[in-house]
Amino acid sequence: MMKFKVLTLFPNMFEGFLTESIMKRAIDEGKVKISINNIRDYSTDKHKKVDDTPYGGGSGMLLMCEPVFEAVNDLKRKNTKVIMMSPDGVKFDQKKAYELSKEKDIILICGHYEGFDERINSIVDEKISIGDYVLTGGEIPSMVIMDSVTRLLPGVIKEESHINDSFNDNLLDYPQYTKPREYNGMKVPDVLLSGDHEKIKEWRKEEALKKTKKERPDLIEEKNETERKKIGNYTLMQDDSKKKIDSININDAYNFKPKNRVKKDELGSISKIILVEPSFIETIAKKNINKKLNVLLKQVAIVINDETDDEGAEYVLGEIARLENMIISNYEKYLSTEYIKLIKNKLLMLKEEIKYKQMMRVQTVNYGNEKGRSL
Ligand SMILES: C[S@@+](CC[C@H](N)C(=O)[O-])C[C@H]1O[C@@H](n2cnc3c(N)ncnc32)[C@H](O)[C@@H]1O
Repeated sequence: MMKFKVLTLFPNMFEGFLTESIMKRAIDEGKVKISINNIRDYSTDKHKKVDDTPYGGGSGMLLMCEPVFEAVNDLKRKNTKVIMMSPDGVKFDQKKAYELSKEKDIILICGHYEGFDERINSIVDEKISIGDYVLTGGEIPSMVIMDSVTRLLPGVIKEESHINDSFNDNLLDYPQYTKPREYNGMKVPDVLLSGDHEKIKEWRKEEALKKTKKERPDLIEEKNETERKKIGNYTLMQDDSKKKIDSININDAYNFKPKNRVKKDELGSISKIILVEPSFIETIAKKNINKKLNVLLKQVAIVINDETDDEGAEYVLGEIARLENMIISNYEKYLSTEYIKLIKNKLLMLKEEIKYKQMMRVQTVNYGNEKGRSL
């Protein structure tokens, strides 16, 4: 059973919250257990003091370390997650609610007054904010979290209800209607009365998309962004809270080789990584090979048509060998065996063409010499 342990200075604030509606039912049915713990009970001061003025001056009072450390120490078990309610925390959303619904034991620390002594952060796993505004205390934020997480726990509400909720799959909920069919001239869309479940499903999907595009285009952008991250042979793992890429998983596990014989452990931090689609490398490789091949073809044509140029023929043979080596060492791994075979055959033909021409020239010269001698 999921347990929430709330640390607060104002336990009475939770009365209505825990004794009404779905929260009450979830508690009564043993789906969730919530304990409200007064931070003041953990103060060892004779006046039960829990707060004091900030060092360095400034307005208001801060929650002191001691009672909060004592309370967490008392309530924390091996698998407890300690969360502080704080305007500077990670922004709470439905994704976070799902994440927390997988936990078994959560301590929620509610601040008050000016907030907490900074050292309390050292015993906290996570800080959560429910939005960019400042409330008088963490009690309402803790209720927001407990409410949204509890309704995701198995058996609290019908699973279908929260699957269709807003923010699932980054979409808002579709429009819904109840009786009567017409109110003040406003009619329920015909499709919902058609009884055709496939059509209704399709309509709801389209309407959810339309509504999200209109009301929350940022959610659509985020959805596209998440999908983009999965494309290709790599997945970018983004830490949403920090809006930063955390790690890059290259699914085919490429090896990384530093340039210019630098050893890996001599490198500082990597400031830039360029990920290239393998198909792009293939295109570039073919483009480079074709360019070099065209130059070679022109050189071969000159050599073949020039009866006297022996040096030129040797030079072009050297160029053919260089291109062959370049293909083997730089490009072969990115290209198909058929393509490599084709290019190697072309180069071989060019080589043979030049060698044949060289041979013919030698024979012509010899024949000329023979003829000269007999005369
Ligand atoms: C008045 S606030 C303290 C504000 C603090 N001086 C600041 O500017 O961050 C008192 C307490 O209310 C809670 N709180 C206020 N706004 C919150 C929010 N948006 N989300 C979560 N907790 C909040 C926190 O527990 C906080 O310590």
